[in-house]
Amino acid sequence: MLKSSKDMEIVLSGIRSTGNLHLGNYYGALRNYIKMQDSYNCLFFIADLHSLTTHPHPNDFHSGVKTILAEYLASGLDPEKSAIFIQSDVPEILELYVLLNMISYKGELERTTSFKDKVRKQPDNVNAGLLTYPVLMAADILIHRANLVPVGKDQEQHLEMARVLARRFNSFYNCEIFPEPKAFNFGDDLIKVPGLDGSGKMGKSEGNGIYLSDDEKTITKKVMRAVTDSGPTEPNSPMPESIQNLFTLLKIVSDKTTVDYFYECYNNCSIRYGDLKKQLAQDICKQTLPIKERIDEIYNNDEYLKRVVKRGTDIARESALSTLKEVKSAVGFRSFL
Ligand code: ADP
Ligand code: TRP
Repeated sequence: MLKSSKDMEIVLSGIRSTGNLHLGNYYGALRNYIKMQDSYNCLFFIADLHSLTTHPHPNDFHSGVKTILAEYLASGLDPEKSAIFIQSDVPEILELYVLLNMISYKGELERTTSFKDKVRKQPDNVNAGLLTYPVLMAADILIHRANLVPVGKDQEQHLEMARVLARRFNSFYNCEIFPEPKAFNFGDDLIKVPGLDGSGKMGKSEGNGIYLSDDEKTITKKVMRAVTDSGPTEPNSPMPESIQNLFTLLKIVSDKTTVDYFYECYNNCSIRYGDLKKQLAQDICKQTLPIKERIDEIYNNDEYLKRVVKRGTDIARESALSTLKEVKSAVGFRSFL
């Protein structure tokens, strides 16, 4: 059973099992999951089916799932408070996915930014799963009638698609089964954690990640290598993107006094990027090293992981089945069996 209070909103989110979690995943998504656990009915999962759209290799498949599971738990997801499960263990999602595909249109799917992006990145593998990625994601969300979906900024368009499909289903089948899910972040805006290679976001496939599982030496090396320039020559100069990115990260991991200090140094042209980077590396380590230690412990505790997933799957399937029953009735299914 989900938590008993009927008034509590339902929260659902997931991350694909495509590699270790990085600071973007943590600050864009996971940290919100952790904060939401006490006040909402929470379900968090590992999107292993979604990972097949880009990572179809059987040898890495299970270890990829296990990695995210251990990193979820090490970061503070609590199986006593949230249902933690693997997408492919809940087959009801796939039934809803098929039904939602019937009211999703090729044109709107082809216009999705993430689809266009993937077509560019993997021209030799433009599979139908990539095209219908937002439909599967909508099924993940709608099967639990989730109200809030904590995600980073890059997922906004997918959330919009989930809302469109919820509305379209309700209207087409003349029912009120699905609420419209909203993207959620505890700050005001959704966050984009930048990479330290000059431009763009930190991402698993961008090769610019600072990972929760990195040790101190690796983190320091990655930060010290960050792209910078020769520094401002006039007071209050505009910041180039690579420097803005360093400050964005600093604002995320450091306290206000530190951030203010380095802004002042920048604005009066006394900044030494080496000092800024050293401070940044230290403050990242302060946040991530305790998590790394727990990852190493949890990853090898198969019995614990099994217990967590069993409990989470039971809760998720109960919730999914109850939605699917209403959905199938609305679509017109009547069983002969
Ligand atoms: P990646 O983009 O590294 O492959 P995922 O697509 O699996 O990661 O993203 C999982 C979650 O982490 C999503 O909610 C996504 O919005 C968030 N996320 C990923 N990268 C960033 C980033 N650089 N900044 C903020 N949030 C991010
Ligand atoms: N598309 C999301 C990502 O790349 C992962 C995801 C799949 C997801 N299904 C979801 C996120 C449902 C939130 C809710 O990050």
